[in-house]
Amino acid sequence: MDPRPASAGAIVTRDLVKTYNGTVRAVRGVSFEVPPGEVYGFLGPNGAGKTTTVSMLTAGLEATSGTAVVDGIDVRKNPATVKRRIGVVFQESTADGDLTGRENLELAAALYGVPRSEVRGRVDGLLERMQIGDAADRLAKTYSGGMRRRLELAAGIVHAPRTLFLDEPTLGLDPQGRAGFWKYVLELRHEHQMTVFVTTHYLEEADGMCDQIAIIDHGAIVASGRPSELKDRLGGDIVTVRPVASSPALREVLAKIPGVVSVGEQDGSLRLKCSNGEALIPAIVSAAVGAGVGLQGVSLKRPSLDEVFLEFTGREFREDEGFSATDRAVMVGRVRERFGGRR
Ligand SMILES: Nc1ncnc2c1ncn2[C@@H]1O[C@H](COP(=O)(O)OP(=O)(O)O)[C@@H](O)[C@H]1O
Ligand SMILES: [Mg+2]
Repeated sequence: MDPRPASAGAIVTRDLVKTYNGTVRAVRGVSFEVPPGEVYGFLGPNGAGKTTTVSMLTAGLEATSGTAVVDGIDVRKNPATVKRRIGVVFQESTADGDLTGRENLELAAALYGVPRSEVRGRVDGLLERMQIGDAADRLAKTYSGGMRRRLELAAGIVHAPRTLFLDEPTLGLDPQGRAGFWKYVLELRHEHQMTVFVTTHYLEEADGMCDQIAIIDHGAIVASGRPSELKDRLGGDIVTVRPVASSPALREVLAKIPGVVSVGEQDGSLRLKCSNGEALIPAIVSAAVGAGVGLQGVSLKRPSLDEVFLEFTGREFREDEGFSATDRAVMVGRVRERFGGRR
């Protein structure tokens, strides 16, 4: 139906740039490629340029220069086609509080041109799927934050897009709400081989949910790859081996295990640097047994994305370093909606 070389990325950008008002260099030339079917995370602190990037990829904002191709279509040349094909869940809430959940989905289906005969079935299916079936005929303004986000996710995929864009979709949700939201995204991805591009400033979300991530800071990608690769680049894992009694022989045999980069000693424990600590633990234990040295314990520590961010930007990643202007506007809007009576 849609001939596209198998090797082509679902999303490909080259030197994408956005300069606001000729002066604010929000995105300074980002290039990346997202393989079809993967979840690609754009991780960065507030103001890094995440929303600006998503807006360019989804044809909501014109790039200053560079190219973006989504699902084989050049976004700058065919913005209308891209808009019809993709699904988007924006950072700010887009559900209409004065419509019911079902009406919101019917509206989205109409906007995306879902054939009339299919609307009913799809909407019902999605309402069940997102566990808002019981609330389907209640006004969306009565929904909890998590329900609302699930409704917005449903609205973003009502036309079964192959590519889904999520801009900080879990912002403001509690950990349970976040986990729930991700459960649906990952299920959908598996069932429909959907490609998902997601921005977040939650480290653990990027780490746990994404196949690949790009760390963006001040409008530029400072590191990208699979989360485990990025951590490996820091020099790998640390396996700490605690022998019952200090043993120079143990140190020697451990250093000879293939994959062990170095062995240090600290407070009677041996600290092994290695690229894949988990896989080495059995070899470490049998080496100790072979050397006749009893062990009190073996533990593995993987470097976290915090350390990756620190390594590539020279400063610490702080999730709570304050809210961006956009975040604040979103939150003020939600509070007003909730407590201000009529919308
Ligand atoms: N419409 C705009 N006009 C001028 N500057 C903007 C506009 N939107 C965003 N910016 C600036 O561009 C930078 C990136 O913003 P944004 O893409 O919203 O970052 P993020 O989504 O990562 O928090 C910030 O410095 C922000 O203040
Ligand atoms: Mg943003």
